[in-house]
Amino acid sequence: MSKTAEIQAKHQKHVLTPWMAQKGLASPVIVRGEGRHLIDADGQRYLDLASGLIAVNLGHGHPKVVEAMKAQAEALCYAAPGLFNEARAELAERLSAISPWKGEGCRTFFTTAGAEANDDVVRLTRAITGRTKVLSAYRSFHGSTGTSIMLTGEDRRWGGEPGPPGISRFFAPYPYRSPFYATTPREETDRAIEHLERVLMFEDPKRVAAIVIEPVVGSNGVITYPEDYLPALRKLTEKHGILLVLDEVMTGFGRTGAAFGAIRYGVVPDMITFAKGVTSAYVPLGGVMIRESLAQTFDARALPSGHTYSGHPMCVATGLATVRVYEEEGLFERGKQIETWLRESLARLDKHDIVGEVRGVGAFFAVEFVKDKKTREPLVPWHGDGPGVMKTLYAELRKRGVISFGKFNCCMVAPPLTVTPDEIEEGVAALDASIGVLASSL
Ligand SMILES: Cc1ncc(COP(=O)(O)O)c(C=O)c1O
Repeated sequence: MSKTAEIQAKHQKHVLTPWMAQKGLASPVIVRGEGRHLIDADGQRYLDLASGLIAVNLGHGHPKVVEAMKAQAEALCYAAPGLFNEARAELAERLSAISPWKGEGCRTFFTTAGAEANDDVVRLTRAITGRTKVLSAYRSFHGSTGTSIMLTGEDRRWGGEPGPPGISRFFAPYPYRSPFYATTPREETDRAIEHLERVLMFEDPKRVAAIVIEPVVGSNGVITYPEDYLPALRKLTEKHGILLVLDEVMTGFGRTGAAFGAIRYGVVPDMITFAKGVTSAYVPLGGVMIRESLAQTFDARALPSGHTYSGHPMCVATGLATVRVYEEEGLFERGKQIETWLRESLARLDKHDIVGEVRGVGAFFAVEFVKDKKTREPLVPWHGDGPGVMKTLYAELRKRGVISFGKFNCCMVAPPLTVTPDEIEEGVAALDASIGVLASSL
C-alpha cells in the first residue's frame, strides 16, 4: 500500500469529515502549502482557488507570519484571558484602526472561530438592548454552534433544530433569483426593505435586539446585494433602535477589496463578527468588534461571555502578524485589482449553456450553474444533488491541478489576495475545461 493510500485509509477509518456522508470520500493528502498552492503526498501541486474555505487570504506559509508564530511559541504559548498580553492589545488596536468606526473606534472580544463569535454577538446585543429577538436572512450561513446554527438560513440549520428560540428570518436580495419578482436592482432593494418592514411589524420592532447579516452572502453562492441595500438596511435598523451586526467572517480582511465589507459598501454597523482571514486561517481565531459607544456598556457591568481561548497568545500573535502583512503589502485594496482580472477572465465561461451567472466582488466570486439559461432552473435542485452531479466539476478541477468547493449549484472562485494574473488564468482555464466535461456528462 502506498503512503498516500495508507493515510487515506486511516483517515476514512478514524476521522469524521464535516457536513459529508462519510462513505467513499476520496481526497488528496495535503502535506505542504506554498503561496497559492497546496502540494499532496505524491508531489502533485494544486492551485487553491477558494483560499481553503475563503480564509487563506495571504496564501499559504507567508514567511513573516510563520516567523511570528515560531517566536510566539518560544516566548509564551498560553496566558489566561484575564492576564494582559501585548499581542492581544496590539491586534485589538489594529482592528480598531482599520474598522469602519472612524474617530469612534471599537473594542474586540476574541473568540476561537466565526460560529462562536456569532453565538456571542447574539448574547451581547441582547445584553445591550434588553431586547430578545434577533433576525437573520434566509440563504445565510453563520456557523454551526448552538445559536449560530439557528441564525443560519439554509439547510445546514435543520440538523441543529429546534435549537434556542428567539431568532426569526427574512429574505434578503438575490438579484439573479429575486424573491420579490424585481427586475431592477432598485426594485430589489425597495421591495426587500418593504418586506423586512413587514416582518418587523409582525415581530414587533421594539423586541428586536439585532439584525445579523453577511455583507455578501458567502457559502450560499457569493450573492452580492444591490449597492444601496446595506445602507437602506442601516437606515431601517436605526429607525427602530435595532443593532446592525455584519458577519464579516468571509468578507473581512480584504476579500471585497477593502479591510471590511462595511467599508466596501459604505455602511457603519454596530458590531462586526470576524474569523478566517484575521490569521489567514493559519490558526483558529475569531471575534466580535463592538463600536466604542456600545462597548462602554460593559465598563461597569460584567461582560456576559468568556472562553478559555479568548485572545489566545498564539492566535493573536498570528493575527497581528497577518494584519501587518495585509497593511504592508497593500492587500486590503488589492481585491479591487483582482476583481478586474477575475471579471475579465471569468467572462469566457458564459459560452457554456450551463453557466447561469458569474458574480462577485473583489476576490470573491462564484459561478452559478443552470439547466437552462432562459428559465434559470438550477443545474441541481436546492438541497437535492442526490446523484452528486456537481462532484464531477470538483473532480475534473483536481485532475487539472485546481481545488475549489461550492454549495449546490454554485462553485467558488476566491483565490488568495496575493494571486497573480497568470494564476487566475490557470484557474479559470481549468474551470472552463472542467465545465465542458460536466456539461457533456449530463
Ligand atoms: C459568514 C460566515 N459566518 C460564520 C461562519 C462560521 O465560522 P467558523 O467556521 O469559523 O465557525 C462561516 C464559515 O464558513 C461563514 O462563512
